[in-house]
Amino acid sequence: MAFTPKACLFDLDGVIVDTAKYHFTGWKRLADELGIPYTHEDNEQLKGVSRVGSLEYILEKGGLVLDNDTKVRLMERKNAQYLELVETMSSAELFPGVVDFIDELLGAGVKVGLGSSSRNAALILDLCGIADRFEVVVDGNGITFSKPDPEVFLKGAHYFGFAPQDCVVFEDAVAGIQAALNGKFRAVGVGKQEVLSQAEVVISGFEGFTLSKLEQHLS
Ligand code: BG6
Ligand code: MG
Repeated sequence: MAFTPKACLFDLDGVIVDTAKYHFTGWKRLADELGIPYTHEDNEQLKGVSRVGSLEYILEKGGLVLDNDTKVRLMERKNAQYLELVETMSSAELFPGVVDFIDELLGAGVKVGLGSSSRNAALILDLCGIADRFEVVVDGNGITFSKPDPEVFLKGAHYFGFAPQDCVVFEDAVAGIQAALNGKFRAVGVGKQEVLSQAEVVISGFEGFTLSKLEQHLS
């Protein structure tokens, strides 16, 4: 049956903009200080995972048990470094084609929202000059449960008043695709097929991607 989306909900990091490298640098510096090895594979595992979830992963890897105050301090330190790194970000760091695709959606009357685990999402959208395109931004500040829990996307769909089945989620993280499927959304993976095999369809990026291609893929 032909499918027409009523809304598209985008993850931010790794879908709209490549911030994974800045998260990597921030966590690597912290892990180095703690004497815990931190690799690009670790960073891959942490895509879509909340700040506290990421710290817990690193501490567990190093077999470190810390009290809550220390954990809060470490997260603040990592985030301060991350903020220094993203300070100079601009629209030049947006993935190719993504803004054109979003503008096509908006022009066609499809609602557009953001569903991100990051507490810095609004800042990044501002720095990249695209905040005005998102009618609703649900981010790490507005959720209780992290992906793979569907809360972040359900809040977006609820804002629009649409059923998840009528909304498409774009995600680069395995946890994000699981969140979309757990919430009964249509799920498009952005990245590698072998990593995102649970998604209904996987695209390598947005260059040349159109609303009609999306509808064909999901019909
Ligand atoms: C996700 C990223 O979008 O946000 C994760 O994929 C990151 O790598 C998480 O840890 C939380 O981000 P922040 O900005 O709140 O520390
Ligand atoms: Mg992501």
